[in-house]
Amino acid sequence: MCGIVGYIGSKPAGDIIIDGLRRLEYRGYDSAGIAVLQDRAIELRRSVGKLSALVKALESNAVRGTVGIGHTRWATHGRPCEENAHPHTDCTGKIVVVHNGIIENYLELKKQLQQSGHVFKSETDTEVIAHLVEARFNGDLLQAVQGALAQVRGAYALGVIAADEPGRIIVARRDAPLIIGLGEGENFLASDIPALLPYTRRMVFLEEGDLAAISADKVVIYNSGGETVVRKEHSIAWDAVQAEKGGYKHFMLKEIFEQPQAIQDTFRGRLSPEDGAINLDGATLPAEAVRQLSKIYIVACGTSYHAGLVGKFLFENLARIPVEVDIASEFRYRSPVLDKNAVAIVISQSGETADTLAALRLSKQGKCPVIAVCNAIGSTVSREADATLYTRCGPEIGVASTKAFTGQLTALYLLAFDWAGKRGTLTGDTLLRLIRELWEVPGKVSEALKSSDTMRSLAKEFSQARDFLYLGRNINYPVALEGALKLKEISYIHAEGYPAGEMKHGPIALIDEDMPVMVVATAGKVYEKILGNIEEAQARGGTIIAVATEGDEAIKSKTSHHVFVPHVDELFSPIINVVPLQLFSYHMAVQRGCDVDQPRNLAKSVTVE
Ligand code: F6R
Repeated sequence: MCGIVGYIGSKPAGDIIIDGLRRLEYRGYDSAGIAVLQDRAIELRRSVGKLSALVKALESNAVRGTVGIGHTRWATHGRPCEENAHPHTDCTGKIVVVHNGIIENYLELKKQLQQSGHVFKSETDTEVIAHLVEARFNGDLLQAVQGALAQVRGAYALGVIAADEPGRIIVARRDAPLIIGLGEGENFLASDIPALLPYTRRMVFLEEGDLAAISADKVVIYNSGGETVVRKEHSIAWDAVQAEKGGYKHFMLKEIFEQPQAIQDTFRGRLSPEDGAINLDGATLPAEAVRQLSKIYIVACGTSYHAGLVGKFLFENLARIPVEVDIASEFRYRSPVLDKNAVAIVISQSGETADTLAALRLSKQGKCPVIAVCNAIGSTVSREADATLYTRCGPEIGVASTKAFTGQLTALYLLAFDWAGKRGTLTGDTLLRLIRELWEVPGKVSEALKSSDTMRSLAKEFSQARDFLYLGRNINYPVALEGALKLKEISYIHAEGYPAGEMKHGPIALIDEDMPVMVVATAGKVYEKILGNIEEAQARGGTIIAVATEGDEAIKSKTSHHVFVPHVDELFSPIINVVPLQLFSYHMAVQRGCDVDQPRNLAKSVTVE
């Protein structure tokens, strides 16, 4: 939520910052701004709306200078308008701040600052930081920021520059991500890896409470106690091209089509279809601990939560361990019974979701070991978990999560296989068969992607619908939830995901000719039941769109609208069945003229509670 970029070196800072912000726009896009230092003066430009508005403003009023910071905003305090756009300045206009996070005690601080004569220009919480720094600045920006942060409560990733100290950028983080990119005679800062990929692969992830002084030729990091510390340098293998659209009209479509690769990359090298060996390289629990497990808590938000719901079926069916799946914002405020014989699996694409992080910390406090399933290398979740099983999806830029979901499912299959093997709940032969089936999944997903044209035609037909019902059962109930979420978030159509068997206990009252019903009806143990549910919906005038298994003649004759996916063992059906649903929501959004990659009101990485 909110993206920050900064540069210090010898090149035009404005170009690099705007380019980085473009790659971070998925973090927020209701306003953007940039501040560049030139001849001991600050040049500030801000615009409401997407980054393109700022770029336009810069065309007629460019910034010059080789040191600067920029920001793309997702509003928390103060509506989206130019005054509330970052960067924010102190009374003199010489101290400039960009911030991602929330300063919880800003009202109290603002009052005190106003009483001592500071004049505020925005409604934001961030502006207090600029004034707090101003109040302490006497030529040493580092000390002034240190002093200011001692007074604030809340979450922050921030970058600060001062006209009177042009040779460095001061940055700090607490409960919000911040990365320093290392170059030759230049250095960078950013909220997330993709912003810096074209410039450097050498990155340092700041830790909680860290503060750093970044100049063109050095980076000095201090921990929360003020001591100088060295943080590990990571070499990031992600390709800059992965963070580009690469000929696709939208990131979301590109990422949907990257799924076969993302799935394969996630399991490759971790299991062998020859002998059934599984090697998760420490990103699991030791055999003895797995045998002792009394319970699994899976905790996540949004799409990652839906992956967790599928995970429940996997761990219960294969490893015979009881599983509870929780939405992180609920888990953190209930009193889960945690102990060392339970394990928490937290799932997060970004690794920065505030509620998921809070759930992780709560689990650790309860002495419950935590395994993260995470995509973002070096993210807070991955650093704080006891072990991280990385999905290898590459950067996911589209706000609606697609390849991260199927990557998460793949990681959960790996963990469930590993634990079933360690507990002896599956015979070697069965395990080997399942591993071989997983090996075939990327090819089957490629087949399922061929449904794109069918989904486009269906989207044309249904684009004016106001409501949608998504039904699924058993291991495909979470797929119905995920399909409905995708439709809601990018095409703004009300959609509800429901367990098909529960329909008659309420939602059936909603069904009429204006309520299309998407049904996941692929082969499996509840197939006959789903056919019954289709009949029930049709009897009430509902139009069914069925996702069915190739060769299913019964569905063909029963439904006017259907799409076929390749046959897989039911256990793997969610990873295939979700594909046409992703494509449907994509084409619906395009039909309706919606902004697919940057849907209204959303941000990709939800770093505030
Ligand atoms: C939906 C979506 C969100 C995220 C959720 C969790 O398409 O992207 O629902 O899944 O915000 O994000 P992570 O996985 O980064 O913790």
